[in-house]
Formats: sequence, structure tokens, C-alpha cells
Amino acid sequence: MSFSFQEENDEYEDVSTVMVRNSHLDLMDQDILYHLALGSGSHDLRAMFGDVKFVCMGGTPKRMEQFAYRLMEEISYKIPTGTTLQDISRYSYRYSMYKVGPVLCISHGMGMPSVGILLHEIIKLMFHAKVVDPVFFRIGTSGGIGLEGGTVIISDEAVDGTLQPYLELQILGKIVRRSSILDKKLQWELKSLAEPDDPYPTVIGKTVCTSDFYEGQGRMDGAFCDFSEEERMEYLEKLKSNGVRNIEMESLAFAALTHHAGIKAAVVCVTLLDRLKGDQIHYPKEVLDEWQQRPQKLVCRYIKKYLSKRGMILNNHCGSVNVKSPRRFKLVQQESESYD
Ligand code: URA
Repeated sequence: MSFSFQEENDEYEDVSTVMVRNSHLDLMDQDILYHLALGSGSHDLRAMFGDVKFVCMGGTPKRMEQFAYRLMEEISYKIPTGTTLQDISRYSYRYSMYKVGPVLCISHGMGMPSVGILLHEIIKLMFHAKVVDPVFFRIGTSGGIGLEGGTVIISDEAVDGTLQPYLELQILGKIVRRSSILDKKLQWELKSLAEPDDPYPTVIGKTVCTSDFYEGQGRMDGAFCDFSEEERMEYLEKLKSNGVRNIEMESLAFAALTHHAGIKAAVVCVTLLDRLKGDQIHYPKEVLDEWQQRPQKLVCRYIKKYLSKRGMILNNHCGSVNVKSPRRFKLVQQESESYD
């Protein structure tokens, strides 16, 4: 499929499209985004982040810093001579955040609690900054199910270890379920940007999200294991026959919380091994480093396509884009094709 961005006719409104769903926020004289080292009282969040269009999250600070520099190259984003990108959240000592024009690159740490806390604060950040229609990406790593290491997987659904498509939270001692829905159109738009020359496959499939790397993912190499090799294989084969292509530890919370806030989102992960063949990640560091760049490349292509359609690539702007009168664009499919 090919797609393009077309200007939308509707007037720009001076409010965010991001839904915070919390009336208590209106009563607070300031909102401290503690884990980001930012706040609505201490920072002009509108001026700092009002131009954000894309939020890209990945596990480690280093990977997200690399992604930010890759993006700078790709979209020809220039910063004043003698300056470097700064980790905006460095004083939180929790998450790292870099801003490259309209793109935020943030590390989310490991597992659903970590990505969940970050999402609460980033969703509020988008709201305070009056960001309109942001698109969120998780770019990460995963274990493949019947797919070799190095395969790129775009999640069409995030499910838990029992294959349920919702996040279960314990709130005030009660179980609350939030649907983990991802944007279908965005998945196919991303898939359309995989190039025939890419020396690896890019596929769309279901992602299982667990709260643990070892026993929770059916690994037999943790400190504890109470199941047999047969039981392990039976579970992994069951996942495969249910359309699961990979397992990781953040997609369920990522999909559920972005969906709850009305944010369009996608999860793009590379596999580090085929879990049907083993548990240990034994590939050399250089190989793993190259694999981890593959989801980044795909998301970069998407962002680059969006920005070039908007005429923002060749501008050597040194700061944020004008947020006072932003023109809004929507993605349209140029021709319909069938997919297999
Ligand atoms: N991340 C996971 O959660 N599991 C894997 O097997 C690899 C990366």
C-alpha cells in the first residue's frame, strides 16, 4: 500500500486532542511530572512541547539517544553549532527524553509498571502542551514465535499471557480492565514502508505481553522453573497456532493506555531469537545492535515521509516549528490494494 498526507480542512483548536480523563487535574494549581523532571508550574510546557507530533519510546536510554541522533540525520534537523542534544529528563534519574523537532524520543525502562508510569506523565505532558493528534510508537525487542532473530514485527494486537486483549489493573483493590487496541491503519502504513531490499522480513502479527522475562515467557533458564520441556513447547505452540508472532513485556500497557487517551499508537519490535528453538540470547553484540536498529529504521521512514509531505525536511530550523498556526494533515491511502 502507498499512502500520503493531505491537509485537513478543520480549524486548529487551541486544546489537546489527548484525553486525560481526570477531572481532579483541573483543580490542581500545578501538575508535577515527577519522573520526567518537568512540571506545569515550573516549565512552559506549551512552548517546549506544543509542536510534538510523534512520541517514540524504547527500553534503554542509550537506544533512544541513538534513535534521536539517527532521526536528526534522517530529517536533516540542525541544532546550533557547538550544541548537542540534551536529555531533558536527566534530573529525574529515571527516564531519558530527547526532542528532535516534532519528535520526542523517550526511554521507558523494562516492563509494564515502568512504561505505565511514563505513559501517565507523557499523556499529561501532551495535554498540558495542547498537542494535537500525536502518534505514539514503541520500538523495542522481543522473542519471536516461529520467526528467526532479526525479524521486524508490527503488532496488530497486544494480548496477555492467557491471550486476553486487555490490561488488568488493580485500582482501590478492584480489578479494572482496559482494552489494548492498536491502530490498524497505522500498522499497514508502517508495513508499506518495509522495502524489498531490506535483508530481513517485516510482518504483522499478534504480540503476547508478559510481566516477566523468565518463567512468565516459558523460559527454562531462570533461577526457578517448575514446568517441563513438553509443557513449555505446548504453550509456545499454542501461542503460535493463535497467531502470536512475538513475546515482550510492554505492549499491553502501551496499547491500553494510549487507546484510553485516544492516541493513535503502534508497536514495532525486532526478534532477538526464535523462542521455539531456545531461551538464551546468544548472538554477538554487534549482531544484536544491528537488529535493534531495524524497528528504528521503519519508524524513521514513517516520520520522514510525514515531515517531507509537510515540507519540513529541508528547513534547517534550529528550534521548534511554529505552533501558533499549525496546519494539520491527515494520512490518506492513495490506492487500495489487498494484503496477504
Ligand atoms: N524481550 C523479551 O521480553 N523477551 C525476549 O525473549 C527478548 C526480548
